[in-house]
Amino acid sequence: MLLEVSGLNLWYGEKHVLKNINFCIEKGEVLCVVGESGSGKTSILYSLLGLFQWGARLEGSIKFMGREILGLQEAEYRRIRGRHISIVFQEPSVYLDPLFRIGVQVEEAYRAHYKEGDVKKIALQALKKAGIQDAERVYHSYPHHLSGGLKQRVCIAMATVCNPELVLADEPTTALDVSIQGRILRLFREMKEEGKSVILITHDFGVVAEVADRVIVLKDGEIVEENNVFGIFDSPKHPYTQELLRAI
Ligand SMILES: Nc1ncnc2c1ncn2[C@@H]1O[C@H](COP(=O)(O)OP(=O)(O)OP(=O)(O)O)[C@@H](O)[C@H]1O
Ligand SMILES: [Mg+2]
Repeated sequence: MLLEVSGLNLWYGEKHVLKNINFCIEKGEVLCVVGESGSGKTSILYSLLGLFQWGARLEGSIKFMGREILGLQEAEYRRIRGRHISIVFQEPSVYLDPLFRIGVQVEEAYRAHYKEGDVKKIALQALKKAGIQDAERVYHSYPHHLSGGLKQRVCIAMATVCNPELVLADEPTTALDVSIQGRILRLFREMKEEGKSVILITHDFGVVAEVADRVIVLKDGEIVEENNVFGIFDSPKHPYTQELLRAI
């Protein structure tokens, strides 16, 4: 088991945001987390990476490759982030620095964990693997030169350049055209084929049908249903899941 989350609770001040969350993910598995806005999807990902503002309180257990990672010191989280667990956000423009060329930013993501290696070659490889054909041009570009779809692929290159075991993606295709969405989703399927595990957040059951092995349905901070992708579509048990499915 790559990741085992058990009895996870999160409070922001008085507000109980995640309530007794339990799930696992195996190597090479794509887990989709669905649920309405405010149900706690992003909070689950932030819990895994320790990305919290002051005032958040976590309880429970998060075991990654057999090791407890809930409540690590910031320096230890930094050793995990990017190298073992990485994240792709919904809006790539927020993540990319407008003042630096793409190549520098991908190389930095690598250098955060590795001192050796031909960084330019490694950055170009990561860009190509993320489905960017003219990697050399993109390498020398600034973020504002690139379309939204290309920027998101750059973020995927940054999230995979250190070859992490687990990639988290927070609605990575929501801001993109439908035609580009498909290409991005293909990258997640390729990660899976390489034996990486992916946790993908989405509102969109179309996305779930494309990439998920298993699905968790979240409502008001609780998991109300969990099943493999066939079970979710063929026999949704919880009324809330049925309602979400009717919406498509
Ligand atoms: N820093 C914070 N302080 C207080 N409450 C917060 C904070 N961040 C999130 N929340 C609350 O926690 C709950 C879960 O938020 P979260 O962002 O995880 O939901 P989400 O499912 O990702 O929603 P969306 O689909 O809109 O992205 C919401 O009620 C939100 O208002
Ligand atoms: Mg969110």
